[in-house]
Amino acid sequence: MKGKHIVVGVTGGIAAYKAVEVVSRLKKAGASVHVIMTEAASRFVTPLTFQEISGNPVVDSMWSEVKQWQIEHIALANLADLFVIVPATANIIGKIANGIADDMLSTTVMATRAPIVLTPAMNSAMYLNPVVQKNLEKLRGLGYCIMDPDSGVLACGVDGPGRLPEPAAILQFLQTFFQQNTLFSGKRFLVTAAGTREPIDPVRYIGNRSSGKMGYAIASVAAEQGAEVILISGPTGLSCPPGVTRHMVETAAEMREAVLAEYPNVDVVVKAAAVADYRPRIVHSQKIKKSGENMELVLEKTPDILWELGQLKKQQILVGFAAETQELLSNANEKMVRKNLDMIVANDVTLPGAGFNADTNIVKILLPGGSCEELPQLPKNKVAEIILNKIHALLTKSI
Ligand code: CTP
Repeated sequence: MKGKHIVVGVTGGIAAYKAVEVVSRLKKAGASVHVIMTEAASRFVTPLTFQEISGNPVVDSMWSEVKQWQIEHIALANLADLFVIVPATANIIGKIANGIADDMLSTTVMATRAPIVLTPAMNSAMYLNPVVQKNLEKLRGLGYCIMDPDSGVLACGVDGPGRLPEPAAILQFLQTFFQQNTLFSGKRFLVTAAGTREPIDPVRYIGNRSSGKMGYAIASVAAEQGAEVILISGPTGLSCPPGVTRHMVETAAEMREAVLAEYPNVDVVVKAAAVADYRPRIVHSQKIKKSGENMELVLEKTPDILWELGQLKKQQILVGFAAETQELLSNANEKMVRKNLDMIVANDVTLPGAGFNADTNIVKILLPGGSCEELPQLPKNKVAEIILNKIHALLTKSI
C-alpha cells in the first residue's frame, strides 16, 4: 500500500462511520487516500472528519469549487491505483451495475481504470433481494471485486448477512487483493486459446476439440493480476474475460499473423491454442458435392507459430502447451527444446478431468532445467494461477 493512491468512496449507510477507521488504517499503511462521499454519506459522517483523517480535501459534490488541487472526477479516476467503496449501499451497487453516473462518486467510478472493490453493507432483506444479488453477480462478471458482508445483528435489529466487516478485516482484504492485482502490473501478455479451423469449402472445416477454457482462464487471471492481456482466440462460445483485449481468428495462418504483429511488444506469451498442424491444400470456393464412394483430401503443413516465436525470441518468456495421448513427458520435453520455450505445460488428454471441454485439468509443468511439477486435478482457473505464479518467478528470475 506504500505510496499508492487509494480512492475511498463512502456511501450513505449506517456503517459509514467504519470507513473513517478504514481511511485511517490505509494512511498508516503508507497509502495516499482520497475520499469521495455521496450526499447521503455526509448525513452520517461529516466531510471534515474524512478530510482530517485522510489529510486530503474531500469531494462530496460535482459542483463545489475545488480549492487546493485539481480534482475533477477524471483527475481522481486517473490517479487511483485502487478504488474501494466502503460501505457500498444497494443504491451505488445498482447505479454502477446499470451504468448510472449522476454524482461525483458514480462518475468517478465510471471513469476509472483502477481495480474496484465494493464492500456491500445493508439490511439483510435488501442484501438478499434478487435485484441486489443480480447486480452483484453482474459486477463480479465485469471484474469488480466484492467483499462479502458479515452476518450478525444489524443496526436495524435484523439478524442476517449485510453487516460491514470490521476495518481490520477490510484492510487485510484490500492488501491481499492489491498484491494479487499488481503482480503483473506493467507487463504485457499475449495469450492464444481455442482451436483453429481450416476450411475445406464454404461449409466444412477441419477443427479439433479444444474449448479454449484453459487459455481463457490464463488470460482472465493474468488480467486480474494487473497484466495487460491480448487474447488471440480461435472460434469459441466463451465470452471475453474482463479487462482483456481479444482478437478472434479462424485459421492457423490468421493466428500466426495476429501473434507476430503483437510479439515484439509483449513480455510473456502463453500459447494455449490448439493449432491445426495440417490444412487442406486446396480450399474449394463452392460446396463440394457428394460423388464417388471415397474422397481424398490433400493436406499441407501449417506454420508452427510457436516454433517461429522461439526463433525470434528476445525478451519474451515463452510458454507452450503439449496435449498428448502417450509418452507425455518425453514428448513435452522434446517440444520445449525444439521450440526454444521457457516452460511447457503438459497434459494427458485421455485422463478423465483433463481432456477437452472439461472445467478441470491435470497438468505437469516442465522447465528447461529438468524440473517437473505434477499438479493434481484442479479447476482450470486454479491451474492458471499456478502457471502464472511460475511465470512470475521466471520474470523475476527467482527460479
Ligand atoms: N503450436 C503452434 N503452431 C502449430 C502447432 C502447435 O504454435 N502449428 C503450439 C501450440 O499452441 C502449443 C505447442 O505448439 O503451445 C504444442 O502443440 P502440439 O500440437 O502439442 O505440438 P506439435 O508441435 O503440433 O506436435 P504434435 O502435433 O506432433 O504433437
